[in-house]
Amino acid sequence: MRWDHIIRNGEIVTPSATYTANIYIKDGKIAAINEEELNGDAKEITDASGLHILPGLIDTHVHSRDGGATYKEDFYHSTQAAAAGGITTIFEMPNTNPTINTVENFKKQVNNLQSKAHVNFGIWGICLGDLNNKDLLPLTEAGVIGFKYFWGYAVNKNTFQLVYNYSEDMVDVIAPCDDGQVFEMFEEVAKTGRSFGIHAENSDLINHLTKQLEQKDADDYNAFLASRPNLAEELTIQTGIAMAKQTGARLHILHVSTAEGVKLIREAQQEGYPITAETCPHYLFLTNEDYREIGPVMKVYPLVKFKKDQEAIWEGINDGTISFVCSDHAPHTSEEKDGDLWTIPAGMCGVETLAPLMLNAVSEGKITLQQLVALLSENPAKQFDVYPQKGTIQVGSDADITIVNLNKRHVIKTEDLHSKSKITAYDGFEITGMPVQTIVNGTTVMKNGDIIFKPLGELVTPK
Ligand code: DOR
Ligand code: ZN
Repeated sequence: MRWDHIIRNGEIVTPSATYTANIYIKDGKIAAINEEELNGDAKEITDASGLHILPGLIDTHVHSRDGGATYKEDFYHSTQAAAAGGITTIFEMPNTNPTINTVENFKKQVNNLQSKAHVNFGIWGICLGDLNNKDLLPLTEAGVIGFKYFWGYAVNKNTFQLVYNYSEDMVDVIAPCDDGQVFEMFEEVAKTGRSFGIHAENSDLINHLTKQLEQKDADDYNAFLASRPNLAEELTIQTGIAMAKQTGARLHILHVSTAEGVKLIREAQQEGYPITAETCPHYLFLTNEDYREIGPVMKVYPLVKFKKDQEAIWEGINDGTISFVCSDHAPHTSEEKDGDLWTIPAGMCGVETLAPLMLNAVSEGKITLQQLVALLSENPAKQFDVYPQKGTIQVGSDADITIVNLNKRHVIKTEDLHSKSKITAYDGFEITGMPVQTIVNGTTVMKNGDIIFKPLGELVTPK
């Protein structure tokens, strides 16, 4: 047989053009793209008449919690959720157990994830300051997709797990890095040439305000917001940018949630520094006002902020300050999410609803479909040095493809999610435009919402 898979008559979308052609796949790669029919049979044939063909969508920010907290989520479920939502590659966050602080743990994680991967996957490395500065170059060699620093978090001395509510009297806990240690970390990451993603929230400010406010207005989202204000993000982004200017680190601001953040990043970019940023659907489609209706499931760090922030983030998307959108998929169980706003864990599902929500934004005229391709495929692929293997439909590229129906209507329902813990702020949201087929390494893994193939995903490493 000449081809493995032929996709006929679809409209192929790139960030700069839209055209109708057939795609011919062989051995997991795009082997030909042609307006005329080419000779030869195929094992699989897809008729994509009336549908749009996008380069496989990438979600760069996923916490599948495998290992460590697999009672909340695991890689088998999160990658099914990804495939169901039209995502062909995810990048897995490193705050797992074991955490991804050494080459040994990176290799263990590759083995752990491989057999459960319904989509392709990259793995982030973690920065723990003095504890693993020496491991950053070896991790780079081994193939981490980038490095993440949870700024302001303490670390357990024995397990290297992040400590979420640090206080100085805790035993077996290493205090958060001081600015001197962070500066050295920036110098070490700069040497690797990889993207350096930071969780930007100033924990000193947050801890101080939390002590003041926690007792007062226990259940009010706005009081909670006052304890984790815009200033917390602004301070850490500002420090991060200053350190990146000094060290040359390729600073990437994770999940931008404030107008102040967007402004600082834009100014640094205008000065010519290679600072990049991402945001997530919750900052684009929700505001503090939604808490009344949605409640604690929408608690996520950084918190969803105000209307003016949402508007500034959209402006950042439209002028290119923010170069891509990702989910920050971080499920907890519904029991854990049901409780006092101040103490329940932060995070919700996202990998399955990322592309539907962005397609709906296309249907509402907020962005174009070509922009969506840039935001969910080409830009993240370029950012993490996996382009043109990923992020484009070209001869020679991996045959990762997302087929979408721009007219398909869909209602997001919590119970339909593929994740182990089904937690979403978007229950009841009406969407126009849905991924209808997810093709990974040339094989269809999702069709019309159903997972139809076994795990076949492969590790993705930067070039
Ligand atoms: O809300 C969040 N949840 N934000 C994070 O940065 C981490 C995540 C988690 O792992 O639960
Ligand atoms: Zn995250």
